[in-house]
Amino acid sequence: MKPNSLSIITLSLLVPKTATSVPPSCPDYSEYSKTRHEPFSSGRYALSYARPPLQCRTFSSPEVESLITLMESEISDPDLYRLFQNTYPNTLDTAIRWRGNSSTNPLEELTFIITGDIDAMWLRDSANQLQSYLPLLASSNSSLSSLFRGVINLQSRYLLTSSPYCNSFQPPSESRIPPSANSAADSDDVFPPYDPSRVFECKYELDSLAAFLQLSVSYIQATGDADFFSSSLTWLPALKAVLETARSMQTPTYSPEGSVLPSPYRFTRLTRRQTETLSNDGLGGPVASGTGLIRSAFRPSDDSTLHQFLIPSNMMFARYLGLAASSIVERCFGDEDAGSEFASALLKFSSDLRSAIETHGVVPVPVLAADGSATRTETVYAYEVDGFGSANLMDDANVPSLLSAPLFGYLAASDPAYRRTRERILSQAANGYFMKGPVISAVGGPHAGPGMAWPMASIVRIMTSDDDDEIAGALKELLASTDGLGLMHESVNTFDASKWTRQWFSWANGLFGQMILDLRARKPHILRQNFQ
Ligand SMILES: *[C@@H]1O[C@H](CO)[C@@H](O)[C@H](O)[C@H]1NC(C)=O
Ligand SMILES: *[C@@H]1O[C@H](CO)[C@@H](O)[C@H](O)[C@H]1NC(C)=O
Repeated sequence: MKPNSLSIITLSLLVPKTATSVPPSCPDYSEYSKTRHEPFSSGRYALSYARPPLQCRTFSSPEVESLITLMESEISDPDLYRLFQNTYPNTLDTAIRWRGNSSTNPLEELTFIITGDIDAMWLRDSANQLQSYLPLLASSNSSLSSLFRGVINLQSRYLLTSSPYCNSFQPPSESRIPPSANSAADSDDVFPPYDPSRVFECKYELDSLAAFLQLSVSYIQATGDADFFSSSLTWLPALKAVLETARSMQTPTYSPEGSVLPSPYRFTRLTRRQTETLSNDGLGGPVASGTGLIRSAFRPSDDSTLHQFLIPSNMMFARYLGLAASSIVERCFGDEDAGSEFASALLKFSSDLRSAIETHGVVPVPVLAADGSATRTETVYAYEVDGFGSANLMDDANVPSLLSAPLFGYLAASDPAYRRTRERILSQAANGYFMKGPVISAVGGPHAGPGMAWPMASIVRIMTSDDDDEIAGALKELLASTDGLGLMHESVNTFDASKWTRQWFSWANGLFGQMILDLRARKPHILRQNFQ
């Protein structure tokens, strides 16, 4: 996500003309999205029309436009349709900050996607921002496919030449967009050191590495474009950097003799927020040896982990490393011995990681009777463990979360351990970060704090549910959660819809659209309901 926006000063006073720059007369979308625009939708929520004027959109896709038109006849509720109409194209409308070709390799496309109001690209957000358009990515010919290739190429460059330990990066030099200053990072003491003209923030997050794999796998699965990978000069080296980083982060805290091992990554920052820095002078919480799990210093919320073996991020990494091995490495590089050996090594790493998750990430919890006595125990997935026996039983709204595990294909939504975990995650009695109230009830997290539910978690709840009532209930709350602005917020006060964070959160918007398309395929009758 992004750091506290108050602490960021953007230096981009002079923005040079770029391939996708919009006319200077266009409104600043971070302001535009904070106010309501006519025509309002005709339902009780009278939602704003939040798409920027035509000439101010950052990318135009005929496929997306025809789908938006088509959906008008499939969604009966006028407010729900308006929400789809605003949210689904939001990344294309507002966040494709620059596109072009590399100055060192003229055939290499580059796409710089911003998360919202900062000129910086997050590995996780940019991968997710494009995921919503996957259903329309039928061939390597479509204009959307060029966006995917451009992001994969730019991510490869970031991983290779900036740092595989960082989460958010500056515009490529070809764009001539000046780097943004991150005043929150002024006091950072980070190892390995990084160059602030290339890196916006350097929080090591395992899921950022998994996001690169996921985007690559999604692209080849949708388009069958193997040539793109086999002719790329940077993709395979970037994958090797990802693997090396993940391996390095399996380093435990202590050697067998008891000495403290040097950590491949350290991070401290001057801050009032506990979740913005790491304990133990930058090492983070201690982790045991021999678990086979990979450490993550930060969560997908960009908050620090309590225990570094973050289970959802390990799940997502295991899943997409395996798929990258079989669908890309074997297929595009398997002709050479080195390529097929590498693919086998990746597959082994992935399956070992999966066993490690099942061994150390599943923990017993007491099942309480009505009188509070513990009658028996059951096992659930922990959010984080340390390998010494401590577990953090919670979930956080940001994907990858435990709730979203079926979404990224680690397991099936019907998996019994997932069902038990899900039931607890969606209950304030068993998850300290489940928020409930009359406006919206959903998982939240320390990033926005107690009392703030995240619409993103409600969307994930819908996408992982087969229960029509649960789905319709969550949809109704989402409709009521936008404060009339017609866009997904980052978080919403569960008792007061006028209190929310982030008016421009492109990833959550895209995910909402993706969820509507998922319902269209799985449960079209729900889209015909009236939510007034
Ligand atoms: C940019 O790269 C793409 C893909 O290789 C290529 O088709 C296109 O011609 C290139 N554009 C320029 C201006 O070189
Ligand atoms: C892709 O482009 C090629 C060459 O322009 C064309 O022959 C082919 O039919 C196109 N495929 C699709 C799916 O549009």
